[in-house]
Amino acid sequence: MSYQPDKNRYQKMQYRRCGNSGIKLPLISLGLWHNFGEIDNYENCREIFHTAFDNGITHFDLANNYGPPPGAAEITFGKIFKEDFKPFRDELIISSKAGWGMWDGPYGDWGSKKYLVASLDQSLKRMGLEYVDIFYHHRPDPETPLEETMGTLDLSVSQGKALYIGISSYNPSETERAIKVLKELGTPCLIHQPKYSMLDRWVEVGLLDVLGKEKVGCITFSSLAQGILTNKYLNGIPEDSRVGRHLSNGAIDETQVTPKVIEKVKKLNELAIKRTQSLAQMAIAWVLKDERITSVILGASKPKQVTDAIGALQNFAFSKEELSSIDGILKE
Ligand SMILES: NC(=O)c1ccc[n+]([C@@H]2O[C@H](COP(=O)([O-])OP(=O)(O)OC[C@H]3O[C@@H](n4cnc5c(N)ncnc54)[C@H](OP(=O)(O)O)[C@@H]3O)[C@@H](O)[C@H]2O)c1
Repeated sequence: MSYQPDKNRYQKMQYRRCGNSGIKLPLISLGLWHNFGEIDNYENCREIFHTAFDNGITHFDLANNYGPPPGAAEITFGKIFKEDFKPFRDELIISSKAGWGMWDGPYGDWGSKKYLVASLDQSLKRMGLEYVDIFYHHRPDPETPLEETMGTLDLSVSQGKALYIGISSYNPSETERAIKVLKELGTPCLIHQPKYSMLDRWVEVGLLDVLGKEKVGCITFSSLAQGILTNKYLNGIPEDSRVGRHLSNGAIDETQVTPKVIEKVKKLNELAIKRTQSLAQMAIAWVLKDERITSVILGASKPKQVTDAIGALQNFAFSKEELSSIDGILKE
């Protein structure tokens, strides 16, 4: 039988406006960096997708290089889309990106027009889509003129291959410049995608102020620190965890699960229990407490991690005392 999404899905989610655009995003989005590659079980991928959409998650975040191997997550998405989600295309916000190494030679990486144009065409083909909703430049390129990179993002919109434009991991001054160039081109920057969690707070030093001032949305990644900010590593490293699976490609490994980190995580876990939340829920809620954050992109290896994350929406208010306890634990 064909997939029938839960009729009550939009009652289960809350949506925030993305900057001053017309688009609202779910407070929790789903990312396909890990868990959707060739090494992963397809039926599990499909179930994660169903669980997400059944809970009102309308935004799915991809990139050309997600896998492994690079490109595989877009192929997995394409298959799920074709089988289950084609009738719901207009209910979905699908993003992809280019900016990391994708193919050999000087034209398969960074931010040239040559690379970005070819990469987006490849992504659309792998996903079986006519357009993406958001096309991102994945990381700043120190060599290519910003005008060339932003000009190519603008071109993708005028060609109808993308509806909106985003940037990822640009620092505050690079962000200000990119926003200005895009504004001049007539294609406003919809959104910035930075890393942000209790364990990595760089966006608090300038970036969120720029985004707030310019009214550009902000969608965060690795807000669970790839799983460290959950209860999974409290008693060792489970074999089926991201660390236990010994993945490469930017995945965390044993060196990041140190006794010092776990000591902090245990204290945060106690605080989460007092708030009647799981640690994953508290970690997501902590990011969402700032209204300038449009959405948190969750990574999930199991459907129940999606439902756990949705539980964060029950309470993303923090008392002053809770916030200072968290700051105290993080500073130890
Ligand atoms: N723009 C960029 O440069 C960039 C970079 C990285 C990521 N991203 C985007 O952000 C998305 C999320 O990144 P991420 O995967 O690092 O995010 P994350 O949400 O910090 O970590 C996800 C991992 O945490 C574990 N987890 C999730 N929920 C859990 C729960 N309730 N209980 C226990 N463990 C739980 C799972 O790992 P296990 O496998 O251990 O179960 C899951 O795969 C990516 O898919 C991608 O779309 C963007």
